[in-house]
Amino acid sequence: MKDTDTLIADSQRYIANTYSRYPLVLVRGQGCKVWSSDGKEYLDFVAGLAVCNLGHCHPKVVGAIQDQSRKLLHVSNFYHIEPQIELAKLLVENSFADRVFFCNSGAEANEAAMKLAKKYAKDTGRADGFEIISMKRSFHGRTMLTMSATGQEKIQKGFDPLVPGFTYVPFNDIEAARGAITPQTCAVIVEPIQGEGGVNCPSEGYLRDLRELCREREILLIFDEVQVGMGRTGKLFAYEHEGVYPDIMTLAKSLAGGVPIGAMLATEEVAKSFSPGTHASTFGGNPLATAAGVAALSVLLEDDLLENCRRVGGHFFSRLSELTTKYPFIKEVRGRGLIIGVELNFEGAQFVTRCMDEGFLINCTMGNILRFLPPLIMTTDEVDQLVGTLDRIFGECKEDVKS
Ligand SMILES: Cc1ncc(COP(=O)(O)O)c(C=O)c1O
Repeated sequence: MKDTDTLIADSQRYIANTYSRYPLVLVRGQGCKVWSSDGKEYLDFVAGLAVCNLGHCHPKVVGAIQDQSRKLLHVSNFYHIEPQIELAKLLVENSFADRVFFCNSGAEANEAAMKLAKKYAKDTGRADGFEIISMKRSFHGRTMLTMSATGQEKIQKGFDPLVPGFTYVPFNDIEAARGAITPQTCAVIVEPIQGEGGVNCPSEGYLRDLRELCREREILLIFDEVQVGMGRTGKLFAYEHEGVYPDIMTLAKSLAGGVPIGAMLATEEVAKSFSPGTHASTFGGNPLATAAGVAALSVLLEDDLLENCRRVGGHFFSRLSELTTKYPFIKEVRGRGLIIGVELNFEGAQFVTRCMDEGFLINCTMGNILRFLPPLIMTTDEVDQLVGTLDRIFGECKEDVKS
């Protein structure tokens, strides 16, 4: 293997400059740990940004990929594909949905969802139903449509004109959503917990009220569960905590245990607005990705990962909450299951770097919110190792940041 400096120099030379990367080349992963090219071990609280929910290289996912790769890597959606059928069946049997459209990423799943909502409006006699309400601080992807749906100016800057028809309202403000509905509105899109926007949780009853509002005004409700679906919150889907069903839901990230995939799930009534020729994806539902998906979802359904997520998540949350009494610069700890955010009253980047020095990968979003998205197999011991380290690091910098 090339040495680390050469790899980083080549990365900077040849790859489009869209990410600010840490000077780290990760070469191996197992369970909750990853190793860098220079042999250093890290406990991973990023998990590929909520992708590796089962941990790195789960043996059942690896086995399924190996088996499938010997049989059939790819065929067109002109033909029926066995693992695609199996994964769709598993998703339908375990969710509100009746139909699944497969694609390759979260953005594509949201593209499909919003296209379907627009088409459904037209099919149900609302030819001008093209407007979509989305939330401030939301994140739905980086394609033109999903970036336009994303309620963050910093992400849209420089790419106008945006796709028209989006109205942004504050998350957790049901009256603002009600006030934003016009005769042209066809859907509301919302993350049940905002991930990139800072781990913002819904207040009690908010998603239920949104559901009711959409029903009343005959518009569709889309839940973007790309980040919080597949067990991340301690239930298979985050909507289960709220006792409400969307009309459409999107998934991606951890659905195939680390292999790229996206999915849009919908009720029969809504899904029937898609017919042959209305939407497609060459790789969507590819045999390799869906075989990995069947294995990953089976592990999630059969093992006690959801229970572990709730238990370890609860422990993590209370350990982090203890730190708030010690460090006044912590504004809030929030989250559910194993998506947890710690809001600081100043920039958090220094803690990401310090944690990395100490052998922990963590993330910071929106500048000042430390975000933890570990694999759902994380143990309380491993959580305690990180919290102990954070406690020490916070303590070291306490004096400089007291203001
Ligand atoms: C809630 C949500 N929706 C959509 C996306 C976009 O997914 P992708 O990067 O796979 O296109 C993300 C990615 O972080 C996300 O968190």
